[in-house]
Amino acid sequence: MKPIDKDCRICGERIYLRPITVEDTDMVLEWRNSKTVVENFIYRKPITKSEHLDWLKNKVDKGLVYQFIICDNVENTPYGCVYLPHFDEENNKAECGIFLGENEKRPRGIGAEAMKLALDYCFEQLDFHKVVTRVLAFNKASLRMNEKAGYTQEAYLKDELYIDGKYEDVVLFGAVNPQH
Ligand SMILES: CC(C)(COP(=O)(O)OP(=O)(O)OC[C@H]1O[C@@H](n2cnc3c(N)ncnc32)[C@H](O)[C@@H]1OP(=O)(O)O)[C@@H](O)C(=O)NCCC(=O)NCCS
Repeated sequence: MKPIDKDCRICGERIYLRPITVEDTDMVLEWRNSKTVVENFIYRKPITKSEHLDWLKNKVDKGLVYQFIICDNVENTPYGCVYLPHFDEENNKAECGIFLGENEKRPRGIGAEAMKLALDYCFEQLDFHKVVTRVLAFNKASLRMNEKAGYTQEAYLKDELYIDGKYEDVVLFGAVNPQH
């Protein structure tokens, strides 16, 4: 994929998505390494600053990953990240992930709105046929959020991952481009 255009804006009712920049680093690391995100995330290991900078240089800047900051339309408050970490161009398929920072002023429903904006962008702008997302089965907020965003549960994978000394079930969600 071509690296994302730095001026790209994906606009929704309450939020917009803008491409991540190196200036976002400290904020993104704080979100990504927060207790809530680490405990609910498939990739459990906290991320170091140098790992994140490598990720930006070797993945985001090369167009292998598209990552966006979720911002409030009125005050530009940044709430978290939504990202497309894996493009499967052979099968015309993308994957989507999300994490939000802990902010008590965050309105309800931001997660679903961001996932829906990213999904529509994958279909309408990138013309992918399918988008998938994976969730640890105990992550009830994420399961519900994905349904609200337009994904359908496609598989329940028993003991799929071994995390922190325990096998965890994973739910696979998918959405197929309605234009295709
Ligand atoms: C998952 C996450 C992005 C959801 O963001 P959000 O803005 O709270 O999502 P939404 O409000 O759009 O949707 C969450 C829904 O789950 C519901 N929910 C929250 N906790 C729940 C629980 N314990 N049990 C059942 N439902 C729950 C909410 O009520 C809401 O549903 P509703 O609108 O019908 O009331 C956010 O919690 C987060 O960043 N978590 C940590 C990282 C993470 O889990 N990322 C996803 C990895 S797959």
